[in-house]
Amino acid sequence: MAEGNYTVTPWEVKGKVDYDKLIIQFGTQKITDQLREEIKNVVGDMHVMLRREIFFSHRDLDLVIKDWKEGKGFFLYTGRAPSLGMHIGHMIPFLFTAWLQQKFGVNVYIEITDDEKFMRNLDYSLDQTRQWALDNILDIIAAGFDLDKTFIFQDTEYIRNMYPMAIKIAKKLTFSEVKATFGLDVSSNIGIIFYPALQIVPTMFEKRRCLIPAGIDQDPYWRLQRDIAESLGYFKAAQIHSKFLPPLNGPEGKMSSSIPESAIYLTDDPKTVEKKIMKYAFSGGQPTVELQRKFGANLEIDVPYQWLYYFFEENDEEVKRIEEEYRSGKMLTGEVKQILVQRVNEFLERHRERREKAKDLVKDFKYEGKLAKMMWEKIHE
Ligand code: TYM
Repeated sequence: MAEGNYTVTPWEVKGKVDYDKLIIQFGTQKITDQLREEIKNVVGDMHVMLRREIFFSHRDLDLVIKDWKEGKGFFLYTGRAPSLGMHIGHMIPFLFTAWLQQKFGVNVYIEITDDEKFMRNLDYSLDQTRQWALDNILDIIAAGFDLDKTFIFQDTEYIRNMYPMAIKIAKKLTFSEVKATFGLDVSSNIGIIFYPALQIVPTMFEKRRCLIPAGIDQDPYWRLQRDIAESLGYFKAAQIHSKFLPPLNGPEGKMSSSIPESAIYLTDDPKTVEKKIMKYAFSGGQPTVELQRKFGANLEIDVPYQWLYYFFEENDEEVKRIEEEYRSGKMLTGEVKQILVQRVNEFLERHRERREKAKDLVKDFKYEGKLAKMMWEKIHE
């Protein structure tokens, strides 16, 4: 999984990721202009994350659209391993999944793996990961899912319904495959060896094709899934992969909850956002005003510009203006940072309101909504 100067695994993203190379390395496919246009034709518009290629790679997305056109439908599945506080990068798959749900009107399953980080991280207690799950679920609901068609479940609670399917999957996977896929060794605890079966189970919640929107770091799980799904009578899971929102303090790796200066948390207040961006945001601008006016900024490494491009500035003309003026030196780093502060705070203000409302909805998404109720009655075999 390591190539050149970067590494992408489900637990670590390091270095400047070459996404074109990653496509070849992981054996996925680039989302072509033609496929993007096809989606636009079917749903009527194109999400900014698709247009700007933060979602850049896929497997079988063309077959998902084909199934859809033929009336066979599909379902969406994504997830989260809870930690103390989600950052804005974590919202990417959830916002995009909610958009796909709105456009296609399909079911969404969201797995909260409150077991995963407990087993991987020696410092986390199970009480902590379960507590964080409840907190993270508020941010996830805030992305705007349809209550009747969305089921959010924690592994430690829903395990009884998943277990028969999990052991069928586990029986098909050898230790040597899992070891090689995830870089485990004989000193790994046996929980983490079994865990991939639990992340694969939801791909088999329905007998239709499953589409997984997620960061490309999760891809190893889906490779295993695709090896065994058909032998169990299910579809190989389709995926749509995103790039990583870079950390605030440098263009390499991914924003990480465990490095506070690299991340803006969804609960950061406006002052903290301003302080973090002005102080830590890595700039591709020149060190002095004179040099900036003369040479302009290097946008390839400029984090504020990349955040605006990938996430916070949806208006194409405005992004183009910033790009041209910043690259040419007409605009200074401080101005671009100020624009970003404003956009991030607008986003977080809306998010806070939705998160507040989400508090009344947790029970419904987990247990009492239409899909949730149905799922609790169902044992997956
Ligand atoms: P987790 O909790 O590490 O991450 C949740 C989702 O956020 C994506 N992500 C990012 N996307 C863009 N920029 C970033 N900086 C960034 N950081 C994280 C991840 O790719 C992921 O999509 N094992 C999983 C939990 C899980 C799951 C799933 C994820 C269970 N089932 C199905 C996706 C689909 C995990 O640890 O995710």
